[in-house]
Amino acid sequence: MPAPSLPEPGPASYLDALRADVLAGLTATPKSLPPKYFYDERGSELFDKITRLPEYYLTRAETAILRQHAGQIAALAACESLVELGSGTSTKTRLLLTALLDHGTLRTFVPLDVDPVVLSEAAAKLSADYPGLQVAPVVGDFEHDLAALPCGGRRMIAFLGSTIGNLGPDARASLFRQVAEALGPADTFLLGTDLVKDPARLVRAYDDRAGVTAEFNRNVLVVLNRELHADFAVDKFEHVALWDAGHEWIEMRLRSACAQQVTIGDLGLTISFAAGEDLHTEISAKFRSAGLQAELAAAGLASRRFWTDRHGDFGLTLAGLAG
Ligand code: AVJ
Repeated sequence: MPAPSLPEPGPASYLDALRADVLAGLTATPKSLPPKYFYDERGSELFDKITRLPEYYLTRAETAILRQHAGQIAALAACESLVELGSGTSTKTRLLLTALLDHGTLRTFVPLDVDPVVLSEAAAKLSADYPGLQVAPVVGDFEHDLAALPCGGRRMIAFLGSTIGNLGPDARASLFRQVAEALGPADTFLLGTDLVKDPARLVRAYDDRAGVTAEFNRNVLVVLNRELHADFAVDKFEHVALWDAGHEWIEMRLRSACAQQVTIGDLGLTISFAAGEDLHTEISAKFRSAGLQAELAAAGLASRRFWTDRHGDFGLTLAGLAG
């Protein structure tokens, strides 16, 4: 299969982005880190484990929707290329790929992910499993690299797994506008969103009994220790998951168990944490179908179909350019 259609930004740009983000986040009040840095090899492994936890219903619910409706989605989209944003291991995407290949239109799959290792492994497996499908991976960040994606032919952009929930309202609006700009009149956008539900269930999904999510959360500190020569005492930060009812999002934080100092060697930066001070590591927004439709419409996108699983836990929206 042909090489990736874009030059891959080298590790230097990943480190540059990490440095800039960590400097900005750790010197802000409250302190924060972007969730995209959870996903090194260990973090991706832990996330994979999360998707199989009894409390984490999201992946099973979205998979059930795709199992049931992939054929219909393929018929509606009838696309020649599928672009997947934040593709990770592309497990659920296989349901879409199979349906689109059965439908007979699909030629090219373009997975976009920040992690070059995860991406190339996934791409190699997909090429082997789908002979005849051109797999053209792109290393990139879905918040910045949408305009750079290869085009040609009718396209579907898929953004699954409720990864959109990691973005706050402004960042979401900007992403939806970029998607609208990248779409042609016959193209489609497939969006997976977790839905608002009983807060107790939501909190359990982000604070599982086995402690996998806690380890996933702390893993971002391990990433900083390794990549930036930081000295976080990882076990002196407690995993916190809470429901913000006003914003309708789950927040994950790391709470400093004591007063402590952390040095980020590569940034020449020493940071003080008060006992009980929170480092904000992730928001995971939950949606209602009406609110989502309004957000899409504000970006010039029209929702054409909306599916949920039988419990109404998760939503899948197929949208296109409005008008
Ligand atoms: C991959 C962003 C969809 O928000 O549910 C899982 C990440 N964080 N458990 C989510 C996550 C904690 C996940 N997303």
